[in-house]
Amino acid sequence: MSIKNITVIGGGTMGIGIATVFALKNFNVSLVELDEMKINSAIKNLTSSLDRMVKKETITLEKRNEALSNIAQVIGLDKIDKNTELIIEAVYENKDVKISIFKQLESFVNPNCIFASNTSSISITELSTACRPEKFIGMHFMNPVPLMKLVEIIRGYSTSDETYNLIKDLTLILEKTPVEVKDYPGFISNRILLPMINEAIYCLYEGVAKADEIDTVMKLGMNHPMGPLTLADFIGLDVCLSIMEVLYNGFNDSKYRPCPLLKKMVAANKLGRKTGEGFFKY
Ligand code: NAI
Repeated sequence: MSIKNITVIGGGTMGIGIATVFALKNFNVSLVELDEMKINSAIKNLTSSLDRMVKKETITLEKRNEALSNIAQVIGLDKIDKNTELIIEAVYENKDVKISIFKQLESFVNPNCIFASNTSSISITELSTACRPEKFIGMHFMNPVPLMKLVEIIRGYSTSDETYNLIKDLTLILEKTPVEVKDYPGFISNRILLPMINEAIYCLYEGVAKADEIDTVMKLGMNHPMGPLTLADFIGLDVCLSIMEVLYNGFNDSKYRPCPLLKKMVAANKLGRKTGEGFFKY
């Protein structure tokens, strides 16, 4: 089986990035959103991202136009082409929302179609029980998708070798590096990254140093491109907290307990860049 027709559900930050990288490689992409306003805004953001690539001369104007012509706009799950070969879900990080989408798709999409989720922390095995577990897989792209080379490919409990190999090969066509990961909380990326960020927040909470100083140590001492607190603001403190909770509950291990300061800042709606204030002001 070769894959040519891809459906991406959700035209937010990740969905438009995923649609863009497939469209640039000449796949037929359908981008699905909830309503007309949302699909228009998704296409506007996707077009601006392609325009920035043209400006930076990473793609030509012809390539931009070709990519745009490879993307079809779809409103509503019921309008998805039932013969699509791969569905990549990139909607909100909410297990119930994701499961209800997969259940709905299961009832009418071709049984050979592979279902993938871009979830950053929800168990692939749990999501897959709603539908076709052997043809279900995690494709965890990194943000910003067009720039970041890594895709964590998460095998659920029942993901078949055939499904894994197809998705691995597809990732290579996108000129990205696939890493095979088993389905445990946080996969690899967030299991290592988030406890580091949480520890940086503990350093601030315990008064070990100020926010700027903590970030400086990690930037200049460890050669990280961005300090952990700046990165937390960029990711969103609500997202950081929810991933720490997934690790804490998933492993039942106190070493993953979220820092009380992180919880307090989320309660105060100081979520980082998106609310104008987190560990730093924007
Ligand atoms: P987002 O909030 O920017 O976008 C989600 C989009 O899904 C919204 O535009 C919404 O209208 C749409 N949507 C919701 N329900 C829908 C439905 N039934 N049909 C069609 N569209 C629907 O979210 P974002 O940041 O793009 O995240 C998406 C997924 O990717 C989440 O699971 C997240 O954990 C994961 N992820 C996010 C990363 C990030 O840096 N933002 C990095 C890696 C993974």
